[in-house]
Amino acid sequence: MREAIDADSERIIELWQACGLTRPWNDPATDLGQARAGETSAVLVLQTPDGVTGTVMVGFDGHRGWVYYLAVDPGRRGLGHGRDLMVAAEAWLLGAGARKVQLMVRAGNDVTGFYEALGYTDQRTRVFGRRLEEPAGRPPD
Ligand SMILES: CC(C)(COP(=O)(O)OP(=O)(O)OC[C@H]1O[C@@H](n2cnc3c(N)ncnc32)[C@H](O)[C@@H]1OP(=O)(O)O)[C@@H](O)C(=O)NCCC(=O)NCCS
Repeated sequence: MREAIDADSERIIELWQACGLTRPWNDPATDLGQARAGETSAVLVLQTPDGVTGTVMVGFDGHRGWVYYLAVDPGRRGLGHGRDLMVAAEAWLLGAGARKVQLMVRAGNDVTGFYEALGYTDQRTRVFGRRLEEPAGRPPD
């Protein structure tokens, strides 16, 4: 497990696309670059002999730690890589000062069992958002 480097970028974005985590109106290269450049955020990658097999983005907002872009190569699932990535994400966030970690799951993503297996519980909180800049091509909320 290590932080992403420039040379990983193409593979990371390929993984995000293969895992269904990208959206046409979000530029994954911008997301990747901003998280890597931030002082309180990072992108961690799982390096195996086959190359980069998984990713997770972490960020501490001064109150809580957040996890994004958790991705394991579709051909390498069920081997504990997702768990290892979340353990690394939690360690990174704890080191950054976060005392609680949270994440958002898109409607329709049946990944609840994975997070429950790791001890996460539904926080029974709704997330509200508003775009500060309107990207081209995004369908209305
Ligand atoms: C979610 C994801 C990261 C899991 O990766 P993985 O490497 O297969 O997960 P692991 O092998 O570490 O599984 C850890 C545990 O979760 C369970 N689990 C994994 N995926 C699950 C699922 N979809 N539903 C229920 N349980 C699941 C495993 O059985 C395992 O349980 P155990 O430790 O009791 O045996 C992977 O499926 C993925 O990349 N999905 C697409 C991207 C995505 O949806 N990311 C999350 C966005 S919120």
